[in-house]
Amino acid sequence: MIFSRIAGTGGYLPGAPVTNHDLIARGIDTSDEWIAERTGIRARHLSEEGLKTSDLAVAAARNALDMAGVAAADIDLLIVATTTPDMIFPSTACIVQNALGVAAGAVAFDVQAVCSGFAYALTIADKFIKSGSHKRALVIGAETLSRIVDWQDRGTCVLFGDGAGAVVLVADNQPGILATALHADGSQQPILNASGTITAGAIIGSPFLRMDGQAVFKLAVRVLGDVAQEVLAAANMSVAELDWLIPHQANIRIMNATAKRLGVPDEKVIVTVSQHGNTSAASVPLALDKAVREGRIQRGQSVLLQGVGGGFTWGAALLKF
Ligand code: ACO
Repeated sequence: MIFSRIAGTGGYLPGAPVTNHDLIARGIDTSDEWIAERTGIRARHLSEEGLKTSDLAVAAARNALDMAGVAAADIDLLIVATTTPDMIFPSTACIVQNALGVAAGAVAFDVQAVCSGFAYALTIADKFIKSGSHKRALVIGAETLSRIVDWQDRGTCVLFGDGAGAVVLVADNQPGILATALHADGSQQPILNASGTITAGAIIGSPFLRMDGQAVFKLAVRVLGDVAQEVLAAANMSVAELDWLIPHQANIRIMNATAKRLGVPDEKVIVTVSQHGNTSAASVPLALDKAVREGRIQRGQSVLLQGVGGGFTWGAALLKF
């Protein structure tokens, strides 16, 4: 039987941290206390020197390939989860393929599931590998959300950051990824969206992210709890057997409420939102990479990754690292 397992992780954050105090110095009418109390966020990175989503993706991917000891030329599947692609087309994945030197003829495509993007991309790659059609996948979550944030809307602009995270997923006779689950509910579009579109050369509708924060909060806690139980049941594992929980890094209160609902103690929850802000599809692979490089997550440990975001979309992957 063929399984997929993570052979390497990588991350990349552009520029120096931009603290809550830095945002105030830039003229945003807010306070460190307001942001930190409601979200846990103290700082984020912003791609301010012209770096595009693909640039962040390439840097994170190189780190993951190095850790895995896999050459870019040997990657046969490349998936980029992003909601802030460099351009309408070609896909960011094709741009990354070219920049990294992934062989011509490999499969490369983008996945658009906003903050659930990495859970979606990892699940797709796992299914490709388990089918036997592909052997070495590069799965990247990369975003420059700062480009679509309305810097006049203090209710949202303080929440987001830019960055990229990546994993190399390889075929193996041992798992690896134990269970995955993905879901969407398109009826929830109004609570979180960036509804603008380009038609005849003009932007029609709002090019900015809009959010009903309280509605997102309630829905996120419910679906994250449900999808965690779903993958644990599919793998016949109990919550007590879980070593680490990496929820989407949107908001510490959502993460704490999810962990409490599941019965996971706070010390098993990986938290990077305080320093990264919400990096959408990049948040989970960035947090995974940080915890792996700090020696917290070790080989053989069980890790539950979770995404939730616009669409509404949500998903989870349970794995032995
Ligand atoms: N600084 C200071 N005051 C602010 C700010 C700010 N940055 N933003 C809003 N306020 C004010 C508002 O103007 C309002 O003032 P008023 O009472 O005088 O009218 C007051 O704070 C309360 O505003 P609310 O929007 O009701 O604030 P709330 O307590 O709901 O907190 C928040 C907003 C933090 C977004 C909260 O709803 C939340 O955590 N939601 C979860 C959503 C989330 O994390 N989304 C991330 C993206 S989605 C995803 O990744 C799944």
